[in-house]
Amino acid sequence: MERQYTKLDEARNIIDPLIKEIRDEESKRGAYVHLYGVGLLASLIALKRGYTREIAELAEIAGMLHDLLTYIDRAEDTDDHAHKCADHAREHVLKKLKGFTDEELDMIYNGIYNHSDKGVKGFWFDEIIKDADAAQHALRNPAEDHFYLKPRVQQVLNELI
Ligand SMILES: [Fe+2]
Repeated sequence: MERQYTKLDEARNIIDPLIKEIRDEESKRGAYVHLYGVGLLASLIALKRGYTREIAELAEIAGMLHDLLTYIDRAEDTDDHAHKCADHAREHVLKKLKGFTDEELDMIYNGIYNHSDKGVKGFWFDEIIKDADAAQHALRNPAEDHFYLKPRVQQVLNELI
């Protein structure tokens, strides 16, 4: 069977060169680990919650993009980084995607825009990105309490394990 060219492939063809261009090795490594990690977990969480593979794909793309600008700029994880990352993603990635509907692009944009609002429960798609973000921080170092013991992490791990 021939390998399909998916929306995720289209998005990665734009995202990967942006990561590759990051000059600082530490930031580049962080970008690969965290962005791919959150993308993968977002896909898993979406499927676990019963959403379609197409939704899982959009969640994975939002996960890949949610902190991209932070790694490019080596910026601190400030309160408004989610909003800046959403605008950067729209400008440098989302606007260039051809195979997506406006509704799909809005979902990705909003998922990135709202991902820092972890203290509140929002739109279901945004919650997938928040949970994937929190879970990636916890699972990359599971014996460390700081992330692992957060209620959001405990909740999502209960769902997955
Ligand atoms: Fe993140």
